[in-house]
Amino acid sequence: MTNRIYINIKGLVGVSENDNLLRGKDLDKLGILENAFLKTSEDKIEDYGVMSEINVQGLPTDVEIIDVTGQFILPCWVDSHTHLIHATSREEEFIAKLKGATYEEIAAMGGGILNSAKRIEAISEEDLLAVSIVKLKTAISTGTGAIEIKSGYGLSADAELKMLRVIKELKRTSPIPIKATFLGAHTYPLVYRKNHQAYIDLIKSEMLPVIAKESLADYVDVFCENGFFSPKETIEICQAAAEYNLSPKLHINQLNSIGGVEAGIKVGALSLDHLETLTAADVALLGESTSISTLLPSAAFFLRMQYPPARDLINANAAISIASDFNPGSSPSSNMNFVAALSAIQMKMLPNEVINAGTINAAHALELQSVVGNIKKGKKANFYVTKPVNSIGYLFYDFAGNHISSVYVNGEKIKE
Ligand code: NIG
Ligand code: FE
Repeated sequence: MTNRIYINIKGLVGVSENDNLLRGKDLDKLGILENAFLKTSEDKIEDYGVMSEINVQGLPTDVEIIDVTGQFILPCWVDSHTHLIHATSREEEFIAKLKGATYEEIAAMGGGILNSAKRIEAISEEDLLAVSIVKLKTAISTGTGAIEIKSGYGLSADAELKMLRVIKELKRTSPIPIKATFLGAHTYPLVYRKNHQAYIDLIKSEMLPVIAKESLADYVDVFCENGFFSPKETIEICQAAAEYNLSPKLHINQLNSIGGVEAGIKVGALSLDHLETLTAADVALLGESTSISTLLPSAAFFLRMQYPPARDLINANAAISIASDFNPGSSPSSNMNFVAALSAIQMKMLPNEVINAGTINAAHALELQSVVGNIKKGKKANFYVTKPVNSIGYLFYDFAGNHISSVYVNGEKIKE
């Protein structure tokens, strides 16, 4: 590993002396140093400041100097909600949808989550790991520097554990921090359609104990929605998982407002995710709660749904983060730059808010705020260098442009 100094940075973005979660109007407070330098030592950020503070000629010869005149440096994205582990894509359903089928109709035909479950059952753990490594590399190449990955396409003890073991192996070998979430309660397998309690009992008796014994998950998730898991069932599963110290990060209020917010707050969820369908009362509750509101605008984009009311949540003093929801059914892309552009264009978030929501607040949604999420001495040197651009607003304005010149993880440049 080498020590490096980046000089003549047009704007060093996300500079902060603390790791605080940003609520409400504080989300707009983003530290930016103009005409700056950044020094990394091995895998960590060692120092930063303005160019007038350093003498480039006098730097030790073992420090590699990288001149980034005209370019910005930003902390890597933290993607706090993904279903990165899936055996195959599902573009055949996408075509069916283009011809008029709805998400719920596709689910009712045995497609959707159950379609992915069939494919997880068929693939070996080794092959699943191989396809997942490729997906993780793609995410990192677009600037993602920490990520959450869920199970949830297994829906049997064997297949859920297979997914979680793949995530555990990715954690061991990945250059970026990974958090694992157990989503056995993603949907009911067909055989349990008429006996929900039997599937919940299976989660409690055959999945959670093994997950705890093998340390296969950090969090638990439930898809709380009409036709999936009720708020009562969600609470039951979260309470069972709490006995194994798994705190909840939940899918709620994507399609309906059925009490997911109250259930999530009751179980002390670390984050409540989706939130496309919120009542005014839901917004007020989220504004007062300690749970982070994680918005997934690329899922709303892909499903042509209404976007989560980001501005209302900010006005209500909520702590919001953004994530990709990368999955084969509703968000087949892990690219956080597109999520960021949608957050600005469709949810009217300001560039500073978008960056904070996808970095430091997202790091809080994974309890990684002391490791990643901003430019701070001692933190992991996970950041990206933009191509020459006039301002950070341009990154989201030119929504389909590729503005990343290079991504650094643990202080090393990622090879494309
Ligand atoms: O977060 N909403 C539930 N789960 C996924 C979609 C799952 C799928 O269609 O494969 C989501 O959007
Ligand atoms: Fe999701």
